[in-house]
Amino acid sequence: MRDTRTVTAETSKLVLAVLISGGGTNLQAMVDRIEAGALEAQIALVVSSSPEAYGLVRARDHGIRTAVVDYRRYGKRQLSQIPERLLPDSFPEVMKRQRLYRALPPAEVQDRIARLVLAEREMISLLDPMGIELVCLAGFMRLLSPYFVSHFQGDGRYRIMNIHPALLPAFPGEHGYQDTFSYGCKVGGITVHFVDEGEDSGPVIAQAAYPIWPEDTPETIHQRGLQLEYALYSQCIQWFARGQLQVTTGAGGRSLVQILDPGYHEFLQELTRLAFTRSA
Ligand code: GRF
Repeated sequence: MRDTRTVTAETSKLVLAVLISGGGTNLQAMVDRIEAGALEAQIALVVSSSPEAYGLVRARDHGIRTAVVDYRRYGKRQLSQIPERLLPDSFPEVMKRQRLYRALPPAEVQDRIARLVLAEREMISLLDPMGIELVCLAGFMRLLSPYFVSHFQGDGRYRIMNIHPALLPAFPGEHGYQDTFSYGCKVGGITVHFVDEGEDSGPVIAQAAYPIWPEDTPETIHQRGLQLEYALYSQCIQWFARGQLQVTTGAGGRSLVQILDPGYHEFLQELTRLAFTRSA
């Protein structure tokens, strides 16, 4: 059994890094809750994979330090340019767990890994001096390679969290709302999970569901889902900050996350009640 954060009487606010690529409305929701005193955390740094991300403006407006790691600057590289120690032998195999890489020829996979690792090395050099306790992905549209993941979680403690716009393991990938709608689902949902080396495959922390009514469109369910995202993501970070997430090993060796907050049922019931209210 592993606690994700050990909390003592002296434990200070959780130090976060938030990685974004776009509009940053989830980032905004975190900032709002922190400023309202509802989330005991501080955002030490926001890193964007794109210089145009509007989330950067949101961060700066609130006095939060920002940085850009522009992945496009890393062109095609040869694997030989990467220091050997950054690339364990198992890399190409692990990367093939990502749908995007599965169909590619080995040389192309190696090339893409090389580009990812170079960008991640830059990102790590920004994050390491800041004493980051939790890395939150909030609309970060780049894969994380095993190099980045093991840098933060190599000791077996999960420190990278993501918000996914579907009820995993259904609809992994980038288009959770559209995929849920196109499939004809009558209920959709969102998932907050820890990140592992696979594609949206890390341990589920919490999920919330919303109804899909006959008159809905992809856009209306997107808006409904986002309201759940904002509330659930911040709550999961708060559980992490308070040491209320515990990881156990389940059948088949899979990591399972237990939420220790006695208010969990009430929180989820209220969230779900709002989502299922017809006007929501
Ligand atoms: C959200 O729907 C999130 O679930 C997904 O990317 C979107 C980010 O939106 N991972 P925003 O940038 O936070 O507005």
